[in-house]
Amino acid sequence: MIGGTDTVTRCPASLDRPGPRPVFHRTSLLEFAPLPGAIPCARLHAVAVLHEWGLRDLADDAALIVSELMTNAADAAAILPDRPPITLRLLASEKSLIIEAWDHSPRDLELTEADADAECGRGLTVVAALSDRWGWERTGDPRKLVWAELALQARRPPV
Ligand SMILES: Nc1ncnc2c1ncn2[C@@H]1O[C@H](COP(=O)(O)OP(=O)(O)O)[C@@H](O)[C@H]1O
Ligand SMILES: [Mg+2]
Repeated sequence: MIGGTDTVTRCPASLDRPGPRPVFHRTSLLEFAPLPGAIPCARLHAVAVLHEWGLRDLADDAALIVSELMTNAADAAAILPDRPPITLRLLASEKSLIIEAWDHSPRDLELTEADADAECGRGLTVVAALSDRWGWERTGDPRKLVWAELALQARRPPV
């Protein structure tokens, strides 16, 4: 468990908007060792959960976002001496899906523009392109999370 007893319903502070806090009626949280095998597991888990939640039309974009965020989290955690676990959390409200990747790295995100011919440095560009908003925050020392939000209404006709 991360972040105390209220983590299930709290969204990232950097995502908070004025007005009432969103109510997350669906949540999922899974921890992984920071190993390469964690990434396909996290992706498959996210797709299965979104199907269960009736959000299958978000599954393709979410799977890519999960891959990029969890790859970065695993990279950041794998170089730490005790290789602390990384966490995938999914939150769904009536309005949006939030994907969070947690790690314990003291390294902050330093965003740089990838060169046109660079082979790396594109993961967060993909996250930005596929999500409606994204961001990161430090939630403890040294815990941090990187999040991406996908609006439901823009993609799904009301039922
Ligand atoms: N969870 C993270 N912790 C620390 N640094 C990160 C994290 N995620 C991303 N970064 C930093 O942002 C950079 C850009 O990430 P990304 O766009 O995914 O490209 P790449 O992973 O190919 O370098 C990374 O190289 C890293 O320096
Ligand atoms: Mg990356």
